Parts: sequence; C-alpha cells; structure tokens
Amino acid sequence: MIIKYFIVAALTATILSSCSGDMSSNDTVSSTAANPKVDKSVSSADVTTNAIQVGKDYHSFANPESIKVTHLNLDLTVDFAKKVLVGTAELDFQKVDPNATQLILDTRDLTINSVTAMGKEVHFDLGNGDSFLGAALTIEVPAAADSVLISYQTSPKASGVQWLTPEQTAGKKHPFLFTQAQAIHARSFIPLQDSPQVRMTYDATIRTTKELLAVMSASNDPDTERDGVYAFSMPQPIPSYLIALAVGDLHFKSMGERTGVYSEQGILDAAAAEFADTESMLIATEKAFGPYSWDRYDLLILPPSFPFGGMENPRLSFITPTVIAGDKSLVSLIAHELAHSWSGNTVTNATWRDLWLNEGFTTYLTYRIMQMVYGDERFEMEAVLGRQDLQADIDALPAKDQIMAIDLRGRDPDDVFSNIPYEKGALFLRELEHKVGRENFDQFLLGYFETFAFKSITTDQFVSYLEQTLLKEHSDQLSKQRIEQWIYQPGIPEDAPVPESDAFSIVDQARDAWLAGSIQADEISSEKWVVHQWLYFLNNMPEKLSQEQLADLDKVFALTNSKNNEIAHSWLLISVNNWYQPAFTRLHDYLTSIGRNKLVKPLYKALSQTPEGKVMAKKAFDEAKAGYHPLTVKANEGFVQ
Ligand code: BES
Ligand code: ZN
Repeated sequence: MIIKYFIVAALTATILSSCSGDMSSNDTVSSTAANPKVDKSVSSADVTTNAIQVGKDYHSFANPESIKVTHLNLDLTVDFAKKVLVGTAELDFQKVDPNATQLILDTRDLTINSVTAMGKEVHFDLGNGDSFLGAALTIEVPAAADSVLISYQTSPKASGVQWLTPEQTAGKKHPFLFTQAQAIHARSFIPLQDSPQVRMTYDATIRTTKELLAVMSASNDPDTERDGVYAFSMPQPIPSYLIALAVGDLHFKSMGERTGVYSEQGILDAAAAEFADTESMLIATEKAFGPYSWDRYDLLILPPSFPFGGMENPRLSFITPTVIAGDKSLVSLIAHELAHSWSGNTVTNATWRDLWLNEGFTTYLTYRIMQMVYGDERFEMEAVLGRQDLQADIDALPAKDQIMAIDLRGRDPDDVFSNIPYEKGALFLRELEHKVGRENFDQFLLGYFETFAFKSITTDQFVSYLEQTLLKEHSDQLSKQRIEQWIYQPGIPEDAPVPESDAFSIVDQARDAWLAGSIQADEISSEKWVVHQWLYFLNNMPEKLSQEQLADLDKVFALTNSKNNEIAHSWLLISVNNWYQPAFTRLHDYLTSIGRNKLVKPLYKALSQTPEGKVMAKKAFDEAKAGYHPLTVKANEGFVQ
C-alpha cells in the first residue's frame, strides 16, 4: 500500500505537468486553446473542420485562460416582493496573461448597475445574449487591479432561482427561495466565470427578514442567531455550479456528529428519521475512499417543486421531499449526493462533456455505499434496476447521445439529461473493478481522488491517468481499446458486467404466472416484498395490459393509492399507457403536487401521445405551472402544446 501511494505521488507530478495549462497559477487542470487535443470519437477526416477541442468549455463566454477569478464575495438582499436578489459581487482575479486587459464573465438576465475597480467606475459591455448561454459581460480592468466590484440585480425569471409564495410552501406562512446552478444557471443569479474549470473560494452576506433563515453551500452554523443577516464562507475552491442559496422558514435537526437536516418544521422529524443513516454513510465512505474534505455534511429538504432528486451542493446537499417514503427505501439518493463530495466536488468535470466523470463515478460509489450500509441484497436489487434504466435509454436515444464523452457543442446541457453518464459510467467502473479485483480498484480510486483533489479534469486526463496506473499494472486484464470503446462509442460493450438479484427471481416468477393467467393477483405472495421488488414487478410489465388485469392489480395492491412516489410513478405510467381511468384523479394530484422532473416528465410525455391524454396533461400543467420550477416548465411545456 505504501508503495502504491508512492507510485501515485510520483505519477501525479508527470500527469499534472503533461496536462497543458498554467499549473503553477491554476487549480484547474485542463487543455487550453493554446494546446488543443482532439476528440477520439471524431474521425480524422473531421479533424480539421469539426474536432472537439478537448477541455474547451463550449458553455461559457468566460476567459479564464487570460484572467481567472479566484474568490467571490457576495452581498445580496433577498426581495421576496419583487422576486429579485439585489446587491454586489466582488470578484478577485489573477492574470494568467500579464497583458490581459479584459475580464469576461457569464450572465443571464442580469441587470448590471455599475462595475468598479480600485474604487473607480470602469467600462463594461453586456453582450446581446444567446438563447441558453446568456450574455457575456466584458469588463475593462485597469492594469493594477486585482478585483472588480459589480453592482447588479437578478430578474424575477432567473433560470436558476425559484421563488415560492407562502401558499406554495408546507407551512403556508412564509415565502421560500432556492437556487439550482448546475449546469449553467449560476450566471442567472451571479455574474461570474460560469465554467466548471474555474474554481473559487467564496464569502457571502445574505440579508432577508428576520423570520427567515438563509443557508448556503458553505459553512452553516446550526445555532446561528435568526436575525435576518447571515454570513457564510466556503474556504475550499469550488466551481460555480456548486454555489447555492436557500431562504425560508427553515429549522434544523441534528442526525449525528457531522450530519443534520434543514427543512420546514412540518417535515423535519420525518426527514431526520428517513435519513438517519447519513452519518453511517459518511463514515463508511471515508473508510473506503478517503477523508471527507468538507467539514459538516447537512441535508436541506426542499419543497416538492425542487426539479431534481438531489443536488450535491457542498456541505449541504439539496434534496427533494419525494424520497421521504417512511421506510428508507429511497435513501440511495442521499448516498449519491454524499458520494459527490468525492466525485464531483473534490474531483470535478472540466466541461459538461465530461459530466460522466462526476455522475458515473458517483453512481458507482452510490452502489458501493448502499452495499456497505445496507448489504448485498439491497445493492444487487439497485444495480439491476439501474441497469434496466440504462437499457431503456440505450433503446430510446440516438447513437450520438449514448456516448459518455458526449459532444454538447451547440446544445443546452439541460436538454441532454439521461442515464448514460450515470449508469453507463458506473457499469464501466464496475467492469474495471471486476477485472482488477475490488482491492486493487479501491486503491486506484483512493489515488485518483488524492491526485486530482480540488482540480477540474477532462475525460482525456482520466484516460491518461488510467493508462499510467491501472492499465499499466493490469495490462493482462485491461486494454486501452476497450476503455475507449466504453467512453467514446455508443451502446454497451459486449460482455459488460450483468447485475443480478436473487430477490427479483421470485418477482419474475410471480409476474409470469399472473400474466399467463395461472394465478390471480391475490395469489401472489408479496407480503414480504420491498419497494425495489414492487418497482421491478411493475417496470417489467408488458406494454399492454387489459383493464381487467389493471383492476385486479389495483384492487389487491392499492397501487393507485401507493404512498411511495416511485411506485406511484411506475403505476401511473402504466395507467396512462393503458388508459386506466381509475388512476387519473391520482395522476392529476401527482402532477400538480410534485415538480421533480424525473417523476413528472415521463408522465407528461406519455400523456402527450394521444389527443385525450394531451387534454389531461394540459389541464394539470396549466394548474401546476405557477408552482413548477423554471426547469420543469421548460422540460415539459412542449408536451402540452
Ligand atoms: N448533480 C446531479 C443533478 C444535476 C445533474 C443537475 C446535471 C444538473 C445537471 C445530482 O447529483 C443528481 O444526479 N441527481 C439525481 C439523483 C439520482 C441519480 C440519485 C436526480 O436528481 O435524479
Ligand atoms: Zn449526481
């Protein structure tokens, strides 16, 4: 082990120096425009005209290769009446190019009031704006300046902020606000270099009314005085997509020495009970994959309009309330967001093309955490369900979107969300694990997290690291060609690992017998089935079922009334696809009370396939729209037009 560490340390020096860019002054590791590398999936004929520049962030206007922001100091007042954040962002920067005179930032729908440097107003230009990239803010910086102070305000329609009225919260008394920056929405609430290859530390002062509490992806003091002025600091350099803020009538409950939960009072106890294993997850992950670098790990439970399951904002993951099932059945989401503290927040994707480095590693770690904390059976069931989700996407997506290192040029990252970076990434890592053995693979992961800690890296850099470590040590088991097939080709390579679960065999038998008509639903011995078995039972039904079959299932298992949001989702999808009307009141309630896109989008999509379905979709969407997050509106409005 000591020897391995030594090798890793020695390699670090060579790998880091072989990655172009100014390493002495930059915490990011990326190929820059000065040293473009060419993507492997592009044929040589394309290279001159159409090659992807590896490491180039096609989703930012910023110029970190000339001037790089290193620290942000925010001072914002939250105006719930106008739905705006107003204040200043002070950006400290370093000149990578000593002759650089312009600092280019990303913005989206921001009003810039003034920019000053060294106490004097300086000239700035706000570009015209692009449909999804926003507008470049170009600031003329005086030669001696090392920071600028921008006075600005956000728009009520900022894509990264959701403003909820008191009626849209659980407590009904106070308004609520939360941000969601990933992938490119930080620019809609802060003018900054909105690229994952720019890391900065930050401080913030947030001013609101004294009834409300503000929390951020930074140091949060659970015992802070509720006085309406809250100070934060994030001393570790993070990319902009991890800056996050929430303000509301929030309360705190401790779950362990380093873990706790923030939420509205009404769900605080239920949340703390549901996620009581967070501390054990943290301890298990540290033991296997190295120290947790972020001090505390708290959860913030958001209102149901939160558009994602979770978001790994450092020190404070943002979590949908839809996973509070009462039986811990959906807590792999917590394992996932926690795992990002290593893969994503400590080692970060350099561009959105490299998202699989964040999500694939995290999905792999999630399975491992679930196995450590809940055992083999749970792990196996989750792995099978994940593999099935992956297959559904492989069957549905065009070949170019099945590639892990995806070409996102000209595309809005929000439109390209799929299981590919998650489950294909995880399956690839599982194959590496199986080939070299778990112990060796864990050593590799430890070295990887250590080597690239607090750096942003590209897929190419990962591959060269792999070549110099695992591939070299296990050349009998691994080949570069196979690795490149996983990363740069569509589909799943032949002979990839096949997750299996004994707990699902009995479910297959029951489903088969019921479908064949040899047993009725009430003859299925499902008393001991867990949520995962129900999901597997439902997700593998044939596309068409008769009304009698649906009624039989519903009568015996009360699926329309399932309190588990994942089971309800699967059942409602089946109901739409088979026009099972007894489920439609629940369907309407579901669509109008949940804004998590993964749960509502497939339902809207299925409804949009028929004229009658579209009418129902439109009715639900029109009713729910005011309470949906901008991202959920954007993802679903096309289905109801
Ligand atoms: N970081 C992601 C959410 C994300 C990804 C937002 C890309 C914007 C762009 C988060 O960690 C995540 O993966 N959430 C999943 C959780 C699930 C896979 C357990 C979600 O929200 O469904
Ligand atoms: Zn994730």
